[in-house]
Amino acid sequence: TGMITIDPGYKNTGSCESAITYLDGEKGILRYRGYAIEDLAEKASFLEVAYLLIFGELPNKEQLDKFHADIKANSEVDEDLKKIVDSFPRSAHPMGILSSLTSALTAFNPSSVDINSEEDMYKAIVKIMGKFPVLAAWTLRKINAKPYDYGDSSLGYEENMLYMMFKKPNESYVPNQTVVDALDKLLILHADHEQNCSASTVRIVGSSHASLFVSLAAGVSALWGPLHGGANQAVIEMLEGIKADGGDTAKYMEKAKDKNDPFRLMGFGHRVYKNFDPRARIIKKAADDVLGDLGVEDPVLDIAKGLEKQALEDPYFVDRKLYPNVDFYSGIIYRALGIPTEMFTVMFALGRLPGWIAQWREMRLRKEPIGRPRQVYVGETHREFKPLEQR
Ligand code: CMC
Repeated sequence: TGMITIDPGYKNTGSCESAITYLDGEKGILRYRGYAIEDLAEKASFLEVAYLLIFGELPNKEQLDKFHADIKANSEVDEDLKKIVDSFPRSAHPMGILSSLTSALTAFNPSSVDINSEEDMYKAIVKIMGKFPVLAAWTLRKINAKPYDYGDSSLGYEENMLYMMFKKPNESYVPNQTVVDALDKLLILHADHEQNCSASTVRIVGSSHASLFVSLAAGVSALWGPLHGGANQAVIEMLEGIKADGGDTAKYMEKAKDKNDPFRLMGFGHRVYKNFDPRARIIKKAADDVLGDLGVEDPVLDIAKGLEKQALEDPYFVDRKLYPNVDFYSGIIYRALGIPTEMFTVMFALGRLPGWIAQWREMRLRKEPIGRPRQVYVGETHREFKPLEQR
């Protein structure tokens, strides 16, 4: 009732109060639970950050060990889920497989559906923290037609992710420390970003008291799109396209500015950052470090740097405050780590998982009402029904 203001894309509409992530898009500040992203990326592990986001405090050693042990104890995935993976065509996009498997987990874990206490919540959380990386790794195994692997529980959380993705049967696999550190940093940088499209999706689906796992599956689907997490894949494809076309970055800058051309500079622009995305700053440096350490030369890194330099000096981008975002350089690192392009958004999802969980948990603990936006009806007014034969 009363006046309804329409705000397409919710550009100026707040959906909740939240104590998880602070973001100042004008100044380029990002903090999780009050801690600067720069500090966390440099000094914390991904699992510490996950605990921080979900439960509000950095864990002490005992809390962290228990959290990790509980996750490991819950990482087994029902054998029947493999049949679902098997039934996908090999050409299936890993994000579609991941969303389906995450949703299907509810059926195999019925006790995770009824959440009546913080203990119920905790149990569901460690289950999904344990099982989601297994499902993510299986999507890669599927597209590579490789046998599934359950991982090695003696390994760290992100080392085990790599193990599950890359371990070959009858061969030992020891992840390279540079690769582990780089992955840890990327996961931390992706771990939360307040009320973005996928987090809002998780909150709104969860607000109907649908299960945590299906709420997360909806988050995976939202993340898949190229305007959101899918941008990391789109960036590499764009850079490859520019390279194949002779590397003329200026030509693509013109295309990006042309309103009659659907081409956009992927990895540029952001709904809330009107300044450098602080994550992009860290990732750009990490890209140089990781490629240097691994001795990888990737010509698309030079194309990316060339595009960035031109964009930062071009009035179109300057006036609209369009800066490189988190996805602009992340793909170049994933690629150097040996992760195939279609898997980039799955890597983003692995990082974003604790953020989605934290958003869902906060929404439930605050007993938020069901999400249900209003509209202004602009269709036909009342019409008389005509039977089929009179139409
Ligand atoms: N290339 C060219 N022009 C752009 C771009 C771009 N990448 N991004 C925005 N603009 C222009 C846009 O055309 C508009 O111009 P005008 O005012 O003349 O109509 C102006 O800048 C404002 O853009 P908008 O589309 O109204 O902004 P939005 O807040 O609705 O969209 C965005 C934000 C991220 C969807 C958009 O910038 C975009 O499509 N970027 C490319 C995709 C991308 O990199 N997405 C990842 C976002 S960060 C991580 C994540 O969420 O996963």
